[in-house]
Amino acid sequence: MASARGEFSSRFGFVMAAAGSAVGLGNIWGFPTQAASNGGAAFLLVYLVVAFTLAYPALMAELIIGRHAHANAVSALRQVANNRGQRLVGGLTGIVGFVVASLILSFYAIVAGWMMAFCGASLATLSGAEDLAAWLTSFSLECNLLSMAVFLALTIAIVGKGVNDGIERWSSRLMPALLLTLVLLVAYVLTLDGALQGLKVYLLPDFSRALAPDLILKALGAAFFSLSLGVGTMLIYGSYLDDRQNLPLVGGMVTAVDIGIAVLAGFLVLPAMYVALHNGVEIFSAGGQLISEDTLIFTVLPDLFARMGLAGSVVSLFFFFLMGIAALTSSISMLEVPVAYTVETYGTGRKQAAVAIGCAIGVVSAVILLDFADLFGLVVTLTTRYSQPLIGFVFCIYAGWIWHRDKLLQELRKGNPEVASGLFWKIWPWWVRFFCPAIILAIFVQSLL
Ligand code: PFF
Repeated sequence: MASARGEFSSRFGFVMAAAGSAVGLGNIWGFPTQAASNGGAAFLLVYLVVAFTLAYPALMAELIIGRHAHANAVSALRQVANNRGQRLVGGLTGIVGFVVASLILSFYAIVAGWMMAFCGASLATLSGAEDLAAWLTSFSLECNLLSMAVFLALTIAIVGKGVNDGIERWSSRLMPALLLTLVLLVAYVLTLDGALQGLKVYLLPDFSRALAPDLILKALGAAFFSLSLGVGTMLIYGSYLDDRQNLPLVGGMVTAVDIGIAVLAGFLVLPAMYVALHNGVEIFSAGGQLISEDTLIFTVLPDLFARMGLAGSVVSLFFFFLMGIAALTSSISMLEVPVAYTVETYGTGRKQAAVAIGCAIGVVSAVILLDFADLFGLVVTLTTRYSQPLIGFVFCIYAGWIWHRDKLLQELRKGNPEVASGLFWKIWPWWVRFFCPAIILAIFVQSLL
């Protein structure tokens, strides 16, 4: 029952697509690496707290506004505004959101390209092409450029096809396979020597570190990145959702799947790090810092797979394939943000918009690769740590202060007539009005001081 704009055909399809957007490199590359370099369990603890208290309410703000407006972020924020000034700020926020989404995609495509290159390398190893395998895992500029371009081309192809044929179909098939593979790998890694130490680092918090403002800001950025917030992605996905869906419930399902997979990936990556350390792989510098954060999992996981003998190459192939797919279900949701805006505002064809915007993003990725040392970390920090929570803050202001409370309730009632008497309606409206904006701002001010 897809409308002219495209619509998810079932709750399962939506949850898989939204969880597909949420679950990606942020869960398996970003979160465990940050946990490893920021005190393990202390980071996990703060991450869980901010994910449930700040990220879930902000996700609900995006989903509700999106479903109400059935439009992209720029038009949606304008629709809920009451006067010219609010319309202007709303439109600008939407536009900043899509610039940030495009910038995120420009670094995301690089890391996702590495996933695909490592997948190709496992295939090459299995077919005896050792030289090719070595090239694919070399992180050379040529290889990085090529794998980034291939990944972006796949993203463009799926977004060009639209909501039902592209986004929903792929997400529904591949997300469950990823979950199963992760569970099996965790079970395996926990049987190895050294894993216990990793488990301790991950689960026994040092509470003094948990209160450091910088750690809290990093965890906030990680949670917003992981749930795809603050760029308009979830708003757009909400806009493709039909009115019968119970929004707090589907939002809760997406949050639970996303956080669950991040925490699960921590059970793989942190023990795998210490297994690799146990095997003599250098991970920490003399000062106790991680040697290269960005490529950490490309060191420790191949070491893990190598210990499994021939079976390891098969597992490696499967793992990096699924990671590439997880990245793809996220990257399509990023490209969807500027594409939906362009199609809905200028009437451009979906395919043309996807190709033109995707190619422009490819150019930015290439520039980042040419000066990786200076640009990569900068773009990641600027977009994920600062922009996403700040734009999320504006979404909370629009849901909590600007949009009329009765209209909000009306929107929620569509999928759940009894919502007014439930816990969600008792807590969320004032939570998103006072608590979320105040705490997000406080975290920023604290970390700047
Ligand atoms: N949530 C994705 C991940 O964890 O990998 C990243 C992401 C997707 C960020 C979509 C922003 C976005 F709009």
